[in-house]
Amino acid sequence: MEYRGYDSAGIAVIDPGDGALAMRKKAGKLANLEKEIAEVPLPDAVIGIGHTRWATHGGPTDRNAHPHTGRNGRVAVVHNGIIENFATLREQLERAGHELGSDTDTEVAAHLLELELESGVDLTVAMQRVCSVLEGAFTFVAVDRLDPERIVGARRNSPLVVGIGDGENFLGSDVAAFIEFTSDALELGQDQVVTITREGAAVTTFRGEPAEGRRYTVDWDLSAAQKDGYDWFMRKEIFEQPRAVADSLLGRRSTSGRLVLDEMRLSDDELRDIDKIIIIAAGTSFYAGMVAKYAIEHWCRIPVEVELSSEFRYRDPIVDNQTLVVAISQSGETADTLQAIRHARKQRSKVLAICNTNGSTIPRESDAVIYMHAGPEIAVASTKGFVTQLVACYLLALYLAQVKGTKYGDEIDAVLAQLSCMPEGIQTMLDRAEEVYALARRHRDASTVLFLGRHAGYPVALEGALKLKELAYLHAEGFAGGELKHGPIALVENQLPVLCVVPPQGRDFLHEKMLSGIQEVRARGAHTICFAEEGDDTIVPFADELIRLPRVPVLLQPLVAVIPLQLFACELATLLGHDVDQPRNLAKSVTVE
Ligand code: F6R
Repeated sequence: MEYRGYDSAGIAVIDPGDGALAMRKKAGKLANLEKEIAEVPLPDAVIGIGHTRWATHGGPTDRNAHPHTGRNGRVAVVHNGIIENFATLREQLERAGHELGSDTDTEVAAHLLELELESGVDLTVAMQRVCSVLEGAFTFVAVDRLDPERIVGARRNSPLVVGIGDGENFLGSDVAAFIEFTSDALELGQDQVVTITREGAAVTTFRGEPAEGRRYTVDWDLSAAQKDGYDWFMRKEIFEQPRAVADSLLGRRSTSGRLVLDEMRLSDDELRDIDKIIIIAAGTSFYAGMVAKYAIEHWCRIPVEVELSSEFRYRDPIVDNQTLVVAISQSGETADTLQAIRHARKQRSKVLAICNTNGSTIPRESDAVIYMHAGPEIAVASTKGFVTQLVACYLLALYLAQVKGTKYGDEIDAVLAQLSCMPEGIQTMLDRAEEVYALARRHRDASTVLFLGRHAGYPVALEGALKLKELAYLHAEGFAGGELKHGPIALVENQLPVLCVVPPQGRDFLHEKMLSGIQEVRARGAHTICFAEEGDDTIVPFADELIRLPRVPVLLQPLVAVIPLQLFACELATLLGHDVDQPRNLAKSVTVE
């Protein structure tokens, strides 16, 4: 599973000699684990579990690597996903005298499973019972050393596939884990538990009722399997966005219903004293920051500046201990952003990181962190990184509104409810991918493409242009709708494609003004491609081509409006024969200034 990106790995097997669990775990690359196993070899075993971890709860250390065991070392578990109610469960276990050796949510599940086993049930029933009390999204795979004939897996909102072999069976997060041994697979449904033995696989629901998985034959090779059948990691990651956004919304509330951040080392009093926010970021993350400005200023009434991290230090920024610097970075390692937060901290300002990579340098050097929980992003161009950064920014804005009291609790609840509908909205756009691909085919010969947006749609236009530059190597520019007449309109010539992000209707003059911008370019011969919400008929006369967006509030519209722009760039670059996952001259993590 190495291609998925990970920060530690581990394996547990049951020793056929003495029935003991033999386990090795190491932070870092698989090579570290391989070295450990070479030094301290594992017994020859026929049953075992392994895991590559992408840290969510607890940093990427040997101790936090999976598998995790129960109190008496009888059960070993690996886990993907997030257990939302793990803090409550951990508290209960600790009150009952359990000592937990890691910071992970997984270890809680291991202890619970072992308690069930000790009550006399088998691992399958133990798994059913434990999964029934867990909230969140998860996949588990577990072994019981006293029952060395079976492996039990379970899933809710997180993938798990069974590989059916001849006298051997497998479980994996995707078919890439076992494709070299078998192409017969069984896909599990939601809330199902599977028990595999050498002979076969039996599926039940969490309630113990018999269930069926979906049998299919995999006709991909290993490289396609790693991409889940997609041609590019980027396309796979685009299609993962409903799940990524849902995951990034998980576990954000305490038992009392208040919003919580992942790692908060700033008190409410310190946050109340904040009188200015400066967001620093680079590239796509910078555009997420621009959207954040609209949300934070509107919901919290705090002035926000958005600054490119590479420029921040050089303008002698005015920051003090009442300034909150928000650093947005998918990788957590971008050198420009890192140097900017170091500079900000020297001026005594507080730093909050929005990051996808647990334990990376930027969150380590920050006072507070919101993790994006997008899962590893492999393609160089950021897609699910961007949408989950947006979610984290909205959560930050709501958190500040909660602390500062600029929004009532029920108003915050209302926005959270709107956010919880966004995965569905994104899916609606993905379901329209064919329309966007057809658009890309029609414009494959374009040499310049312009993007227009206003308000929260402006950063989306900039992001659409960046995607096209980095993937299709095209001249692409994003503009604020109102700025056109101040110069850029001179670029417009006959049949020039202009992609327009149209704001939702009913927002004062915003929509109307955007329409004027579109008319201006159209009158000069541009070919307008409009992305406008369903039911917006006013746009029809001015759109040469029209793709519908679901109806969502204006501040959240970037989450749905960016999807067709990502698909457009990905498809156009594919048609032009470029390497979409690794565009020329670019690196995933830019660790030089
Ligand atoms: C664009 C892209 C880059 C990154 C930028 C910042 O698709 O991926 O523009 O957004 O290099 O990277 P992070 O967020 O890791 O700091």
